[in-house]
Amino acid sequence: MAVGVMDIEGGGASLPGKTTFQVVMCSIIAAVGGLMFGYDIGISGGVTSMDTFLLDFFPHVYEKKHRVHENNYCKFDDQLLQLFTSSLYLAGIFASFAASFLCRRFGRKPIIMSASIFFLLGAILNYFARDLGMLIGGRILLGFGIGFGNQTVPLFISEIAPPRIRGGLNIAFQLLITIGILAASFVNYLTSTMKNGWRYSLGGAAVPALILLIGSFFIHETPASLIERGKDEEGKKVLRKIRGIDNIELEFNEIKRATEISNKVKTPFKELFTKSENRPPLVCGTLLQFFQQFTGINVVMFYAPVLFQTMGSGNNASLVSTVVTNGVNALATVFAVIMVDRLGRKFFLVEGATQMMATQITIGALLLKYLHLVGPITSHAVPLIVLILICIYVSGFAWSWGPLGWLIPSEIYQLEVRTSGYFCAVAMNMVCTFVIGQFFLSALCRFRSGLFFFFAVMNVIMGLFAIFFLPETRGVPIEDMAEQRWKKHWHWKKYFKQN
Ligand code: BGC
Repeated sequence: MAVGVMDIEGGGASLPGKTTFQVVMCSIIAAVGGLMFGYDIGISGGVTSMDTFLLDFFPHVYEKKHRVHENNYCKFDDQLLQLFTSSLYLAGIFASFAASFLCRRFGRKPIIMSASIFFLLGAILNYFARDLGMLIGGRILLGFGIGFGNQTVPLFISEIAPPRIRGGLNIAFQLLITIGILAASFVNYLTSTMKNGWRYSLGGAAVPALILLIGSFFIHETPASLIERGKDEEGKKVLRKIRGIDNIELEFNEIKRATEISNKVKTPFKELFTKSENRPPLVCGTLLQFFQQFTGINVVMFYAPVLFQTMGSGNNASLVSTVVTNGVNALATVFAVIMVDRLGRKFFLVEGATQMMATQITIGALLLKYLHLVGPITSHAVPLIVLILICIYVSGFAWSWGPLGWLIPSEIYQLEVRTSGYFCAVAMNMVCTFVIGQFFLSALCRFRSGLFFFFAVMNVIMGLFAIFFLPETRGVPIEDMAEQRWKKHWHWKKYFKQN
């Protein structure tokens, strides 16, 4: 598909180049980092609701789950069980911090490769786990893998993609997250009845890690990273390859200009936090991830099987429901890949927040009415209706805050603070995922259906934030973002010295 000269919305810049096979392949391979992340998200909820897993590691939760007349909302409330899910995210924060320096110094490619190695080791340790220590140790290694991967992959894709299709290519990362989640729910479904099924579920994480490890030998380093490290000729060579044309001078010069500024910056974090021009992307990028998590998505991702069981579905039915929701998640993300560079980012953010808010209010109201503290749910139709509502909710997330929470922070920073700024977004993702992973089951136990109303309010706030504070970044070359967008935004322009 030849693209020729790109016309960029908002006027000004145009960069020549084609959409080459090389760019698409490199993006897809790197996006396998998302497959690892997604596999883990999808596997944890199912494993923590498996009886054999609970019996081996959390016998007290097993007992509680099977006690008659147990409070519906508190069946799985256990800090240690939640730590199993969330320990990974703590490790991930440290790893992505380290990766933000390492990928500036050594390039994006070796960090992507190391991500797969950590993840592979974590999967192996978990497969052989004999006690809680091995289990948590494995999760910490997986966390390193995810921290390295999430820090580097979206940046990598945004840097090699031509602006016109940057959104769609970047969402390949989110698409693979959702495919990973879906694959994991299938695996859980198959292993849930096997003896020691949880071992296969956890060990299966080795598959995406191996795919990424092998694939990462075939990707090109990004031109921006090569040029930033003084390898101009190599950078030009890669540019020619990935753009499919000889005349890459315009883009090379633009990157060169950005890297010259970038190389003067020796302390990127200081620069990020002290220079007023960096404030707008810092606030927006970090808040995007905060809001992404406070859509409440991981309540569904981690605990959907538990939630369906809470509503009285059997073990099997609840895993099937999870496969259905995860299928919808993946399909709706395909829609985002196709449409995000046509309809723009803001449209999806506002639409998605509205859709999620409406479904959360309805789910909250249904649970309030039909799921009492003890005893089974008082209407047979309710679990099915909740399933449908969750599918509508998940699709709203999948074409909006899911992919855009990763895409926008990767395209709004200037090069000199790109990796450190992006780290803040990744760290926010991990901290909030940790908080939700760690406290959701306790919060469900305490606030019951009220929790859904809380997330609904958060969705209203984030919709307003998107309308008033986010500039539209569709089609703008990343090295031109400040000129074309921040400096023209009604609120953020005051952070730039007018000249
Ligand atoms: C989020 C995850 C979430 C997943 C669901 C990702 O973008 O960061 O926390 O579980 O989407 O598809």
